[in-house]
Amino acid sequence: MQLLAALALLASTQAARSGNAKYNNVDIAYDEIEKFDDVITPKAVVVNAFAPEGAVWQKHVNFTNNITLPGLSPIYPNVSCTKNYDLCHIITGEGEINAATSISAFLTSAKFNLSESYFLINGIAGIDPHFGGLGSAAFAQYTVSVALQYEVDPREMPKNWTTGYWNYGTESPGHAPGNYYGTEVFELNEKLRNYAAALASKSKLSDSTGAHKTAKLYNISTAKTGAQVLKCDVATSDVYYTGNLLSEAFSNTTKLLTNGTGRYCMSAQEDSAILEAAVRAAKFGLTDYSRWVLLRTGSDFDRPPTYLSNDTVGFFNHNNTGGFEIAIENLYKAGSPFISAILKGWNSTFSNGTFIANATSFANATNATLLNSTLLNGTNSTNNTNSTGPKNGTFAPDNYVGDVFGTLGGEPNFGPGSYKEFAYIAAKK
Ligand SMILES: *[C@@H]1O[C@H](CO)[C@@H](O)[C@H](O)[C@H]1NC(C)=O
Ligand SMILES: *[C@@H]1O[C@H](CO)[C@@H](O)[C@H](O)[C@H]1NC(C)=O
Ligand SMILES: *[C@@H]1O[C@H](CO)[C@@H](O)[C@H](O)[C@H]1NC(C)=O
Ligand SMILES: *[C@@H]1O[C@H](CO)[C@@H](O)[C@H](O)[C@H]1NC(C)=O
Ligand SMILES: *[C@@H]1O[C@H](CO)[C@@H](O)[C@H](O)[C@H]1NC(C)=O
Ligand SMILES: *[C@@H]1O[C@H](CO)[C@@H](O)[C@H](O)[C@H]1NC(C)=O
Ligand SMILES: *[C@@H]1O[C@H](CO)[C@@H](O)[C@H](O)[C@H]1NC(C)=O
Ligand SMILES: *[C@@H]1O[C@H](CO)[C@@H](O)[C@H](O)[C@H]1NC(C)=O
Ligand SMILES: *[C@@H]1O[C@H](CO)[C@@H](O)[C@H](O)[C@H]1NC(C)=O
Ligand SMILES: *[C@@H]1O[C@H](CO)[C@@H](O)[C@H](O)[C@H]1NC(C)=O
Ligand SMILES: *[C@@H]1O[C@H](CO)[C@@H](O)[C@H](O)[C@H]1NC(C)=O
Ligand SMILES: *[C@@H]1O[C@H](CO)[C@@H](O)[C@H](O)[C@H]1NC(C)=O
Repeated sequence: MQLLAALALLASTQAARSGNAKYNNVDIAYDEIEKFDDVITPKAVVVNAFAPEGAVWQKHVNFTNNITLPGLSPIYPNVSCTKNYDLCHIITGEGEINAATSISAFLTSAKFNLSESYFLINGIAGIDPHFGGLGSAAFAQYTVSVALQYEVDPREMPKNWTTGYWNYGTESPGHAPGNYYGTEVFELNEKLRNYAAALASKSKLSDSTGAHKTAKLYNISTAKTGAQVLKCDVATSDVYYTGNLLSEAFSNTTKLLTNGTGRYCMSAQEDSAILEAAVRAAKFGLTDYSRWVLLRTGSDFDRPPTYLSNDTVGFFNHNNTGGFEIAIENLYKAGSPFISAILKGWNSTFSNGTFIANATSFANATNATLLNSTLLNGTNSTNNTNSTGPKNGTFAPDNYVGDVFGTLGGEPNFGPGSYKEFAYIAAKK
């Protein structure tokens, strides 16, 4: 009897271990999954790239459950979640390769059901002084892979070029790409972005005298406004660039690749990679791409003040200071009101995708709610049937959302057209 029972148990365990789980139309073979009644279904996920960004969330939120997943960064092997699993946190590792790999592993993990979770990508960035001061928090509609181009060292470029970068399938700078990899541009849900930004604008952001001292070096009024909430876009590049010329060139690239809509203000190293992973997973229902929000806070300026542009590298190495700590703090201060809103309003507003469409109604809200233990341990959550605002719209985005190929359907308002047309153009060549 005992032997038979043991054999049966062994057989069933092995079947589970080697079995393919039918999961959202995708067959996923995961050896480590033994049962499916412990699938984690968070309401919200915070995404960071490296330890200092993660630390500010860990300081405020008690992530008591660590889940080690195959495919995460060796230095950030865990997704961590709150006691009630409503909020989870992942650190991807820095740069595009770490970001894409970690997020792919997370989104395809059978341990998690992320199909209805809201995602807040948030990290520090270089900021264009023409948009705001250090510590500013930008909520983006686009991220553009600005360095996905041909490059020649400027010492070897034609005398009349303004930059050493020019797009694939072209012969000089300033022309739209002749061919695409598919990861050039990602567009996000503008309504949800506006909503998150409106909530953030009610939060008191951190500022510092050091940041103001650096800002004073600029002859640009926007650099001196202190930390504020912005709506503008992110350039993704593995290369941590600095300087007036590269920043201006990539600002031009952002505008060109978004057909004039995108406005570059932040430079960072992960966002296109994260969103490519999201698009691929969303195609199979593993995530809802229209529930992703991108927030970047400015930790340093992307270029020196004009009068120090004779020493761009010296400025970068020694003088571009005062922004790091406040940018880190503002990840939480600008991002947590959005997370709070999701956790508080899940039943009434967020779970089924209905949400307060008119973000301007939040401009008059009294205060943004930061996360608190009541929200996070779930023992005394507020009565979610009474949410804070009018339910006068749906969460369905008004704008195109997705990549340049139109992978998730719809017709991109940038680039050469949807994948079908693109494939047709490629076939003709
Ligand atoms: C994932 O979670 C959502 C929301 O709870 C649920 O509707 C859906 O059925 C779940 N998907 C799977 C494959 O369990
Ligand atoms: C975090 O949660 C753990 C487990 O529930 C608990 O033991 C610990 O006291 C909590 N820490 C804080 C700072 O609340
Ligand atoms: C969970 O992971 C976090 C960050 O990776 C770490 O700081 C913490 O000590 C871990 N907690 C447990 C209980 O293993
Ligand atoms: C990851 O989580 C496990 C518990 O599941 C813990 O033992 C380990 O220390 C964590 N690793 C890090 C780097 O936090
Ligand atoms: C640069 O000079 C070349 C050769 O005279 C010309 O074809 C081109 O239009 C000029 N401008 C740029 C931006 O390449
Ligand atoms: C600041 O800009 C103004 C207008 O462009 C110019 O007149 C002035 O000389 C500049 N000052 C410095 C310190 O660069
Ligand atoms: C950016 O575009 C403007 C307008 O076309 C152009 O004048 C400028 O030289 C470009 N900057 C760089 C660095 O390529
Ligand atoms: C750059 O220009 C500033 C202002 O004219 C001057 O004070 C500084 O010495 C120059 N730096 C270098 C490295 O030439
Ligand atoms: C830049 O930093 C160097 C080294 O700390 C310092 O000597 C110099 O005064 C700083 N320059 C400015 C303009 O702040
Ligand atoms: C979604 O929630 C709204 C507000 O509570 C409600 O009016 C609507 O009927 C819900 N829709 C679905 C499909 O459950
Ligand atoms: C939200 O809905 C779930 C599932 O119906 C229910 O268990 C929970 O009590 C509700 N929470 C609140 C605060 O109404
Ligand atoms: C975007 O601009 C390019 C030329 O720069 C053009 O070929 C393309 O059709 C435009 N796309 C859309 C969607 O308007």
